[in-house]
Amino acid sequence: MSRLKDKLHDKIEAQRPRINKLLKEYGDVIIDEVTVSQVIGGMRGIKSLISDISYLDPFEGIRYRGYTLPEIFEKLPKPAGADMPYVEGLVYLLLTGDIPTEKEVEEVLDEFQKRRILPRYVYEVIDAMPCCSHPMTILSSAIMTMQRESFFAKKYKSGINKLEYWDSTYEDAMNLLAKLPEIGTYIYTKLYRDGKRIQQNPNLDFGSNFAHMLGFEKPFDEVSRLYFIIHADHEAGNVSAHTGHLVASSLADVYLSIASMINGLAGPLHGLANQEVLRWLIELYDKMEGKIPTEDEMRQYVWDTLNAGHVVPGFGHAVLRKTDPRYMLQREFSLKHLPEDPIFKYVDLLYKVVPPILLEQGKAKNPWPNVDAQSGAVLWHYGLREYDFYTVMFGIGRAIGICANIVWDRALGFPLERPKSITTDMVEKVAFNPKAKRSKKKGSAE
Ligand SMILES: CC(C)(COP(=O)(O)OP(=O)(O)OC[C@H]1O[C@@H](n2cnc3c(N)ncnc32)[C@H](O)[C@@H]1OP(=O)(O)O)[C@@H](O)C(=O)NCCC(=O)NCCS
Repeated sequence: MSRLKDKLHDKIEAQRPRINKLLKEYGDVIIDEVTVSQVIGGMRGIKSLISDISYLDPFEGIRYRGYTLPEIFEKLPKPAGADMPYVEGLVYLLLTGDIPTEKEVEEVLDEFQKRRILPRYVYEVIDAMPCCSHPMTILSSAIMTMQRESFFAKKYKSGINKLEYWDSTYEDAMNLLAKLPEIGTYIYTKLYRDGKRIQQNPNLDFGSNFAHMLGFEKPFDEVSRLYFIIHADHEAGNVSAHTGHLVASSLADVYLSIASMINGLAGPLHGLANQEVLRWLIELYDKMEGKIPTEDEMRQYVWDTLNAGHVVPGFGHAVLRKTDPRYMLQREFSLKHLPEDPIFKYVDLLYKVVPPILLEQGKAKNPWPNVDAQSGAVLWHYGLREYDFYTVMFGIGRAIGICANIVWDRALGFPLERPKSITTDMVEKVAFNPKAKRSKKKGSAE
């Protein structure tokens, strides 16, 4: 057993009694109340999932295993001379809850190197996808194709004990994660570089190898690591994370679950928003013939978007109630590395003009930018101009968090997810009752 798996084993043994005690002795304690607006409004804010991998505070932003993103970037080991930490270190942290040493990161690098080779048929499936398939559709299909490799599915068939489920799930998770850079970059070269594949460099880390196979020079390795790390998880209730949990709760294996989460991420209100931001900005850039708009021109563009009945991509959030720290990290990176980039200047201008407009419009609960408002501009600057591909990078990052979640879901024996739906008649019966209790909660998302 690897040392990472050994450690995970010990952590799991320590965590199981905590969950068992909560269930056995405190199972009937009330945690939350549910209002009509939450039932109709996409279950916002209902506390009904558990995950220790990350937690999203509406005002502070995401914490991974208790650490804020600035802490993560400070504490995780980094390649020599780099500003951005190893993605492998984040894998270790999300799985175990501990910041790894350099040596422990090296072990994850070794693990990934052993597991990197992609079966031939995955390339063939990617090659066979019909023309104009979206890169996210291809990513999902490529992952699905590998379901036949699942150790968990084989072990389950052979009748293993429930307590051992996590072990083969861990194997599936590590095997899939190690292969994602190759899958992602092959999709890219196939769609945009006539299939001219650049071979992996086994001496490189996850982020550097991704940049290398994509064909981008330094500092794209830093951009890749930054990007994968900030997108890895955003607690358990967002569409991609929740889809991953939900599908895995039926004991579908990691391949089926991660392909499903990729499908959820491919919606424009979720992960695809990064592509939408760039599409929307380039439309304006072309209209302006490359000039930087004045504040008034930008305001007009935003109002035109709203008046056409569209959302302003990259702004708003279902949980956050302040500027997304993932946005701020990328903004700092942009101010340092690409302050004169015209698309960054557009993004910078939007940061100024959009929140007051959304406040004036009075609909969005959160007028501030989210991660997607900024991420495409960085990729664009370094030459990754095919913005349909941006969500694939989001998906590779997100797979890290969801894989960690699924391993733990299995380890703690979380059951099949099955919330209850009720009919409109039933909701009306409760709501119209003169004795109905009203919630004192201010917002439903907190
Ligand atoms: C992220 C998002 C889907 C959250 O949705 P939500 O939790 O329902 O958000 P709210 O409760 O604030 O929505 C209330 C209203 O404000 C609108 N709104 C929210 N964000 C908006 C935005 N960026 N532009 C215009 N309108 C917005 C909603 O569409 C909704 O309108 P409706 O009452 O006509 O349906 C939403 O903010 C959005 O569509 N943002 C743009 C897409 C995006 O950036 N997605 C990536 C998220 S990380």
